[in-house]
Amino acid sequence: MTQTVYVLNGPNLNLLGLREPEIYGSDTLDDIAGMLEDRAVELGLAVDVRQSNHEGHLIDWMHEAQATGARAIIINAGAYTHTSIALYDAAKSIKVPVIEVHLSDPMKREHFRHISYIGMAAVKEFKGLGPKGYLLALDHAATL
Ligand code: DQA
Repeated sequence: MTQTVYVLNGPNLNLLGLREPEIYGSDTLDDIAGMLEDRAVELGLAVDVRQSNHEGHLIDWMHEAQATGARAIIINAGAYTHTSIALYDAAKSIKVPVIEVHLSDPMKREHFRHISYIGMAAVKEFKGLGPKGYLLALDHAATL
């Protein structure tokens, strides 16, 4: 049976393409989803790409990934990366491995972006690589 990788995107990532393109690039989230779907076929996996501006949705989806036996979770938690102990707890509460992705490199930006709670519970992180980071995260999920 084809295993699914959940690709969860947090606040403001619905505006990719429009949002600060000098930082986040010109690809939309749909563009990234398309790239991931193509790569998933090559890897014999399925991807389920979702986005929410609401912290609780991301937590519910992490629990759902556990309940449905997902292969891995790739998450770009947006600004919740830097604030959400609840997302950290969710990642620690499940057995599904969590891979952290950021389009930009938060460590090279404002000081308030330097802490990543979700990152403390992630098995791997890809940051500062633009959409390629999502593809590398999916490649990594295939090895887990
Ligand atoms: C981001 C980096 C975060 O600091 C920011 O709040 C985002 C996007 C990224 O993909 O580079 O919303 O996660």
